[in-house]
Amino acid sequence: MITISSIKADIGGFVGHSAMHPDILAVGQEELEKAKQRGLLIDYHVSYCGDDLFLIMTHDHGEDNEEVHKLAWDTFITGTEVAKKLKLYGAGQDLLADAFSGNIKGAGPGSAEMEIEERPSEPIIVFMGDKTSAGAFNLPLYKMFADAFNTPGLVIAEPLHGGFAFEIQDVKEHTQITLNAPEEVYDMLVFIGAPNRYAVKRVFNRLNGEIAAVSSTDKLSLIAGRYVGKDDPTMVVRCQGSFPAVGEVIEPFSTPFIVEGWMRGSHHGPLMPVSLKDAHPARFDGPPRLVALGFQLANGKLIGPRDMFDDPSYDDARAKANEIGSFLRLHGPFEPHRLPLEEMEYTTMPAVAAKLADRWQATVEKSSDGAVAAATAEVE
Ligand code: F6R
Ligand code: MG
Ligand code: MG
Repeated sequence: MITISSIKADIGGFVGHSAMHPDILAVGQEELEKAKQRGLLIDYHVSYCGDDLFLIMTHDHGEDNEEVHKLAWDTFITGTEVAKKLKLYGAGQDLLADAFSGNIKGAGPGSAEMEIEERPSEPIIVFMGDKTSAGAFNLPLYKMFADAFNTPGLVIAEPLHGGFAFEIQDVKEHTQITLNAPEEVYDMLVFIGAPNRYAVKRVFNRLNGEIAAVSSTDKLSLIAGRYVGKDDPTMVVRCQGSFPAVGEVIEPFSTPFIVEGWMRGSHHGPLMPVSLKDAHPARFDGPPRLVALGFQLANGKLIGPRDMFDDPSYDDARAKANEIGSFLRLHGPFEPHRLPLEEMEYTTMPAVAAKLADRWQATVEKSSDGAVAAATAEVE
C-alpha cells in the first residue's frame, strides 16, 4: 500500500500575502530530501500556490502517521525561521499549536491523505488553492463524481456506472455522513450546497469501494476561534479506469465558479484555474486561484508534475474569472461581494456596534390614520 499525503501551510508571504519566497521552497526541498534519504518518504514534491507551501509526499506508513506529520510540522517550523529572518509577511501564520502533539490535524496546517493499492498505472492530480477555503471543492467534486454532463463516464463507462459515495463533514459539529450518488443527490445537495458548513472529505467508487478523492477540510478560524488566515485547501484525485478521466477531473474548473475567500478572506470571488507561473494572487489579493499538478505514480515515485491548467483550453475560464471578478468588485463593501456578517473573517462589527449602542432608537411606525403607534422594539 502507498500513502499520498498533501500537507500545506502558509508560513509567510512574499510580498504581503501574494506569493512564496524561493528560500521557503528551498527549505521544503531540503527537509523532504533528507527524509527521503533516511527512508521515511518514498518520494516528494514541494510546490506552492500563492503564499502557501504544499508538501506532496508518498510513503508506506499510512494516513495520520506521526512521523510523517512531524516531518511536515518540523519543515514548516524551519521554514518559519527563514521567513522570520527575511521578515516575510505573516511568518508562521498557520502554525497555531505551540508544539507538535502527534498529528498535524487541528494544529493549523491543512492535510489530505489517501492510502491506496497502486494500480498498474496510477494517474493522480493534486490540487492546490489560495485565497479560498475548505468546501471550495464541493461543487467540482459533485460535478466530477455525480454529474453526467461533466463526466460522461458515469453514463457510458461500466466501472463508473455504479456511482460514487460522498463522505461529507459538518465542519462545525465535527460529524460526518456518507451519501450515495446518484440516488441520494438531492439529499446530498441540501448539505454540500452550503460549503461554509459542509465539506466533502472523501469520495469512493461504490462498485469496488476504492477511494477516489480526498480533500483538506481544516478550518483555521474554527480551530483558533478567531481569524488567522484562510484555510487554503488541497485535494488529491485519482483518475482513469474506475475513476473519472483526467479531462473529466479538470473539466469542472472550466467554469470559474464563485468561492469564499479573496480579500481578507471576507469576499466572494471566482476561482481562477492557473498554471504555476500565474499562481500569484494580485488584484484585490486575488482572485482566488487553483493549480492542478498531475503525476503518474510508479511504485510510489511521483513521476511529474504536469502543470494541468497550463493550457489554452483554460484561457476562457481565466478571462471569465476576470470578468466576474470585475463585476463583483463593483459591489464594493456590499453583499453578495462581501460575505454575510457571520461568515466574514474580519469584522469591526462588535466595536462599531458598541460605539453606536446608545444611538439606536426604537422604530416608531405611523398607522394608516396617521396615529403614531408605540415603539415596535425594545432597545437595550
Ligand atoms: C486573504 C489574505 C489577504 C489578507 C489581506 C490583509 O486570505 O490572505 O487578503 O487578509 O492582505 O492582511 P493583513 O490583515 O495581514 O494585513
Ligand atoms: Mg498569508
Ligand atoms: Mg494563502
